[in-house]
Amino acid sequence: MDYKRHLVTAALPYANGPVHIGHLAGCYLPADIYVRYQRAQKRDVKFICGSDEHGVPITIRAMREGVTPQDVVDKYNTIIKDSFAGMGISFDIYSRTSNKIHQETSQAFFKKLYDDGAFEERESEQYYDAEKDVFLADRYIIGTCPNCANPNAYGDQCEKCGSTLSPEQLIEPRSALSNSPLVKKATTHWYFPLNKYEDFLKEWIVEGKKDEWKSNVYGQCKSWLDSGLQPRAMTRDSSWGVPVPLPGAKGKVLYVWFDAPIGYISATKELTAQWSDYWCKEDTKLVHFIGKDNIVFHCIIFPAMLKAHGGFVLPENVPANEFLNIEGEKVSTSRNWAVWVDEYIKDFPDQQDALRYVLCANAPESKDNDFTWKDFQDRVNNELSAVLGNFENRAFVLMHKLCKGRVPALHADEINDMDKALMADIRDAKTKVENAIESYKFREGLAEVIDLARKGNKYLQDNAPWSLAKTPELQEANQKRIDICMHLCLQLTANLAILLNPFLPFTAGKMCKKMKVVERMLEWENAGRIDLLKVNYPLLPPELLFRKIEDEEVATQVQKLQDNLKKATQAIVENSTAAAVKAEQETPLAAPKATITFDDFAKIDLRVGTILKAEKVEKADKLLKLEVDMGTEVRTIVSGIAMHFSPEEIIGKQVSVVANLAPRKMRGIESNGMILMAQNADGKLIFVSPLATADNGSEVK
Ligand code: MF3
Ligand code: ZN
Repeated sequence: MDYKRHLVTAALPYANGPVHIGHLAGCYLPADIYVRYQRAQKRDVKFICGSDEHGVPITIRAMREGVTPQDVVDKYNTIIKDSFAGMGISFDIYSRTSNKIHQETSQAFFKKLYDDGAFEERESEQYYDAEKDVFLADRYIIGTCPNCANPNAYGDQCEKCGSTLSPEQLIEPRSALSNSPLVKKATTHWYFPLNKYEDFLKEWIVEGKKDEWKSNVYGQCKSWLDSGLQPRAMTRDSSWGVPVPLPGAKGKVLYVWFDAPIGYISATKELTAQWSDYWCKEDTKLVHFIGKDNIVFHCIIFPAMLKAHGGFVLPENVPANEFLNIEGEKVSTSRNWAVWVDEYIKDFPDQQDALRYVLCANAPESKDNDFTWKDFQDRVNNELSAVLGNFENRAFVLMHKLCKGRVPALHADEINDMDKALMADIRDAKTKVENAIESYKFREGLAEVIDLARKGNKYLQDNAPWSLAKTPELQEANQKRIDICMHLCLQLTANLAILLNPFLPFTAGKMCKKMKVVERMLEWENAGRIDLLKVNYPLLPPELLFRKIEDEEVATQVQKLQDNLKKATQAIVENSTAAAVKAEQETPLAAPKATITFDDFAKIDLRVGTILKAEKVEKADKLLKLEVDMGTEVRTIVSGIAMHFSPEEIIGKQVSVVANLAPRKMRGIESNGMILMAQNADGKLIFVSPLATADNGSEVK
């Protein structure tokens, strides 16, 4: 398909906290690279984002802080917007879902579906806090756990015994907001029958996108579709949100995941009067950049809504990334385990491209990845600075020394095979980077650019123009060879600026200044050319593009993480409304896995065992070596839980063990089995253990 225009969206971040570098790496940076590339191709592209300003967590935060929800979103909208701008994320518009235009757009959308009979109206009984006059989401209901009698269990989980709960199971449920007892009250909501769109979605995704979408995205969609879709309530009882545009729907608002994606449309409307060209014409290429916790909403629910409404294009691709962990641990906002973008900008002014480089080079494109400050330092110092910065700097220094500060002539009739090979590399790099970006492989694209710089370094080394100019006489004899070499190195530098521009725009801009060319040179069609810099043109003196990251800076940042964690953990202990802190993000839905047969399940030999011994594995932060009594034998099992449990606290615990897992060597120790764990949304691990003591070796079924 020949697309006439590109519409690129990046997930609207919740305006109830700042953004961290995991957000950047997962969604905003790849989107920005893609868009900058499209602009350089002179294609018609619009880049849409804004704050997601509705949802229960925002109202809860407002109540807790004694401010209005509007105050909360105003504060974070500004912080987030500034963070993106500071990092060079070049949205065409950064809007907000509390805008009037969004209210109108999302209401009209809802009304159209309603008028077309697309919703099912249902009444259900839900817990209600009469004192605060609100219906409560599960997280905000507290009561006594039926399993362990913990008086402060939550409506979705007991933190003491780790069991998953529903509000119905709690004994004497009360409100987390007012502490008053809850009553049940009937309430009506409008459900969107996703099940009716299964056939459409299967055809569109399962048949149509198998080879186009990333496998992590396709796989998650297929699981959802294989396990069957259910009707989903598209309204909520709340005072904060877009009011349901129906008579008699007082106190009801649109479900945040109904209104937020429509925010992409409202923002486009706010941006341009031609918004409907972008949303409704078949020759638009719509691409949603998101993190993996948003897949179901962008690939299943929103497309079904668009389909039900009619007249809209569907996303051509949804290149979702996985998560970025920090120093080996999952990001946790409540434990303040994150690198916040606004703080990075303060701590590292003018180092945007260093972070952009590391986040792209290490992007979690196909699996979760880890960010460590040491790796940040290594990549900046050893790749960005030592390869790219070094090449550019040598080209400038030598040109000033050996060519009087001007671009020397090429002497085309005297070029040799080495020169020709370099010229071919320059041309090939364009195609390679282009193909990588077009197929959303940004790491690969960036690696190709660095590789080209590496080739430049090698070419310089092989030609060694400095040794051709050891004496004035030598230099005079060799000047033509020197000129050719430096000419090509400078043209290569210009090419690097073009290829780098989508990834590291600040650097590309600086390079243009030093070469005294206008930024129009950065247009993509110029890549591959070796006549970008005019012969005899004087260039500015050399100046390093990147500075090194020092050991102290790394140490300071690692310490800061630890300090933040400590403070946050203390605060949680002191603050009995820890639940509310944790639930600040709308809980992401974990995708169910595809159905398996009973026979598949029966292949797994699950047994109860008791941990007899536990010790740390040397030089492996995450591993514990366990000796587990399996009834008939004692097994050695290596488990990746050392960040979560100390050896002492788990000795004597009964656990469930996958007993017939193929043995695996880790750090030289053979592991014979696996311990079953549940993992909370914040990354905390809980053993899956029998409630009462069982015989070791007994089967779990
Ligand atoms: N606010 C959501 C999140 O941070 C993303 C919303 S994306 C939109 O996970 F499509 F709904 F806008
Ligand atoms: Zn419990």
